Amino acid sequence: MADLNELSEKLSGIRQEIKDELLKIENSKHAFEYRKSIMDSKTGKIGSLMREMGKVPNEMKAEYGKKVNEIRTWAQEQFDELETKLKEAEMNLRYESEKIDVTMPAKMQKRGNLHPNTMVRNQLVDIFGSMGFEIYEGKEIETDYYNFTALNIPQDHPARDMQDTFYLSPEFLLRTQTSSGQVHVMEEQEPPIKIISPGKVFRSDDDATHSPMFSQMEGLVVDKGITLCDLQGLLNAFVERIFGESTKTRFRPSYFPFTEPSVEVDVSCFQCKGCGCKLCKGTGWIEVLGAGVVNKKVLDGCGIDSNVYSGIAFGIGIDRIAMLKYGINNIKLLFESDLRVLDQIDD
Ligand code: PHE
Repeated sequence: MADLNELSEKLSGIRQEIKDELLKIENSKHAFEYRKSIMDSKTGKIGSLMREMGKVPNEMKAEYGKKVNEIRTWAQEQFDELETKLKEAEMNLRYESEKIDVTMPAKMQKRGNLHPNTMVRNQLVDIFGSMGFEIYEGKEIETDYYNFTALNIPQDHPARDMQDTFYLSPEFLLRTQTSSGQVHVMEEQEPPIKIISPGKVFRSDDDATHSPMFSQMEGLVVDKGITLCDLQGLLNAFVERIFGESTKTRFRPSYFPFTEPSVEVDVSCFQCKGCGCKLCKGTGWIEVLGAGVVNKKVLDGCGIDSNVYSGIAFGIGIDRIAMLKYGINNIKLLFESDLRVLDQIDD
């Protein structure tokens, strides 16, 4: 190093170069890299100045060191300032781009809804539950005795043909009706009995209105002095709640081996209010369930004295109610889980 003037000139050259360069820098990463290159102790324009101390004559060393320190401090300040400014700007930009308006209404997510069968079952349970019925969970695999014999359908009885049965063995079968639960309840409980028993039943039957697996809900009331009038009152209250207040019931004579008398219950069409439409096939009435007064033979067979007690029973097709209520014309649609169908049904 010849003299200090030369050093001063060199340093002001470096200062200018840094000033010019800093003006071009647009982001903090770039600024950081530039700082590193300038301050590098081997190759950096400022960083390497100290290494040259050795070549500086002794009498100039103090002054040289001072000037080098000065420019180093100056450069560091410049970099600090620029980096802080750029980082702040970058942060603001990020805040802006990631800004969330918490007052904006949320994007509605599609939610699932309950299956029509589940909705109807829940409604039935609510309605009968509010009338004081308890729920009895029956068994899907039954013995021939509970599904048929105890219900006054002995072997070779023609009524067995009404329900094509899936036998698992000569003794066990998939229950064809929730009525099998009636027998268990009457065997296990003393009257007064007031139960409903919803569940799956199985029959070898398959067309637009029949499926090999479907759901029923059994109802059973056993007490002293229970009559067909109680059944009518009960079912009137039920249909008004499930189909609407103006809905009426109509009893038609029918036959079930385990009830005597037996009835088929129709409701006045809740769509056309009885005037006649497609749903009720122009008749104004829709068949919804089978019912009757519990056959004395069944009561006695279960150990309930039919001279003291009497009972009423009814069996509601849950799928059938769901189809009627939601305008579903093919029972298969209830089992296909097709969202185009299920999306339209929400209570
Ligand atoms: N179990 C009968 C059926 O499945 C319905 C029914 C239940 C009838 C209770 C009368 C009494 O068809």
